[in-house]
Amino acid sequence: MSVNKEIKRITTETIRSMKGAERISMLTSYDFTIAQMVDAGGIDAILVGDSASNVMAGHETTLPITLDQMIYHAQSVVRAVKRALVIVDLPFGTYQSDPQRALDSAVRIMKESGAHAVKLEGGLEVEKSIKKILNAGIPVMGHLGLTPQSIYQFGTYKVRAKEEEEAAKLMDDALLLDSLGVFSLVMEKIPASLAQKVTENISIPTIGIGAGPHCDGQVLVVHDMLGMTHEFKPKFLRQYLNLYDDITNAVKRYVDDVKKMNFPNESEQY
Ligand code: KIV
Repeated sequence: MSVNKEIKRITTETIRSMKGAERISMLTSYDFTIAQMVDAGGIDAILVGDSASNVMAGHETTLPITLDQMIYHAQSVVRAVKRALVIVDLPFGTYQSDPQRALDSAVRIMKESGAHAVKLEGGLEVEKSIKKILNAGIPVMGHLGLTPQSIYQFGTYKVRAKEEEEAAKLMDDALLLDSLGVFSLVMEKIPASLAQKVTENISIPTIGIGAGPHCDGQVLVVHDMLGMTHEFKPKFLRQYLNLYDDITNAVKRYVDDVKKMNFPNESEQY
């Protein structure tokens, strides 16, 4: 008897149908090797986040990363992934100014990387861009709350929407995104009570990062949860490994072995 080993792929419809039925797990990835392990670990969705600007390129903010660079990261991830849904961030400056530019950027990502959906930050301000992308048949994930591409407007990475006015705007934006046909919504660094209220009032799944336990799913930056990013320990982060220390110690041992002529040994040569 032959066993059917075909892997069932996660689609945007799968993600939608998980609301209220099963929590959604999402992590970022930016390269082939990590994406392969993240996918093998059974993750539902992989976000090729513009946080690549921070963790891969060492920039202070997400603003400098370009569309070409995002496409390069997305191509590497798509090559590795067999099951998870792959979503790619539209980088800063490629969708805010004009809906046609937004569509062109999204089309490039989908055509050149083979990813399954795009994510962009904002609500009412980017309504026309979202409509244009959705009309072309490209699934869109929203992102509200702390939207890092607006860091120079916010001034800090502190929790957003603590005040009534900002919380009300976030709720309006979430309802708008839902009505436009966005398939899911990331909410970053907002009070858990607000995230719960939004989650209960929209039809699409919410995915939280620093937004409490009531969201329909959770996302973390993979380098943060693996403990690779040094000294970045916000309250919301659960660190599952401490790879910064593990890798640094492994390198120290290697350096030591080379210096002491302990590497290579007899069995490690031809
Ligand atoms: O770029 C990113 O990694 C993100 C997540 C923090 C949601 O947008």
